[in-house]
Amino acid sequence: MAGTGNAHLRDGDVVLRVDDLVVEFPLGRKGTVSAVAGISFDVLRGETLGIVGESGCGKSTLLNLLGLLDQPTDGSYKLTGQEAAGLPERKRAEMRRGTIGFVFQSFNLIDDLTVYENVELPLLYLKASKEERKARTEAALDRVGMAHRRDHFPQQLSGGQQQRVAVARAVVAGPPLLLADEPTGNLDSKNGQAVMDLLAELNAAGTTIVMVTHSAADAEYAQRIVNLFDGRVVSEHALAHEYHLPDPAAKGATPEAAV
Ligand SMILES: Nc1ncnc2c1ncn2[C@@H]1O[C@H](COP(=O)(O)OP(=O)(O)OP(=O)(O)O)[C@@H](O)[C@H]1O
Ligand SMILES: [Mg+2]
Repeated sequence: MAGTGNAHLRDGDVVLRVDDLVVEFPLGRKGTVSAVAGISFDVLRGETLGIVGESGCGKSTLLNLLGLLDQPTDGSYKLTGQEAAGLPERKRAEMRRGTIGFVFQSFNLIDDLTVYENVELPLLYLKASKEERKARTEAALDRVGMAHRRDHFPQQLSGGQQQRVAVARAVVAGPPLLLADEPTGNLDSKNGQAVMDLLAELNAAGTTIVMVTHSAADAEYAQRIVNLFDGRVVSEHALAHEYHLPDPAAKGATPEAAV
């Protein structure tokens, strides 16, 4: 598909690097709150990185930065070597398009678009052909078990159904980098397992994943865990299973092929 950023994500093994990242929110006359208070780490091509930590420790704020949705107050954020901190919104949107899929903690579906139209939207931005949009949108809805609700509007869905639609929208264009904020937070164990299996399959096909989670079972899918407390990294560890970079020469090992 024209415009996907896959090629440039194969340039090096570090997909993104944050360095001393700080996010402060104004709190009226009370000064500021540091939601992210100097965080540094790398995300490697082909890995699943889990971000864990108690409520309010800065996980969503950090993920929004990684997704180029917000600006840091200070520090550096490089996506495949290109500095994103300080870039205007238009430039960040350009970097994001076709490169980053994002599952929001609060779903962020568009209320006056149907389920089908919400999932199709990233493909419209990428100017995919009508046939390709149809095939990919239907496949993504099938993958999350939401094809039967394609003509519903988000407000006509349960929280778990909205979450599954949000996952379908994030993966529909086969982005090489997938950022997911508690992607199973509203799902029962069966649907949660289906979403995690989908993420694992995408990862096996080469998609790099950064996932915020409260669930110990979901964290097991990660090769590496970053633990936050009060806006800082307090520990970082690899999980027992071996971490293998996918073989770029393997036929069909593209994220697009997996959706
Ligand atoms: N727009 C904002 N203005 C002011 N403070 C904010 C804003 N967004 C987040 N915060 C504060 O920053 C801190 C981190 O919030 P964040 O949403 O990143 O936490 P989290 O780790 O994702 O929590 P949860 O697990 O509950 O989703 C919290 O103390 C929160 O109150
Ligand atoms: Mg959060």
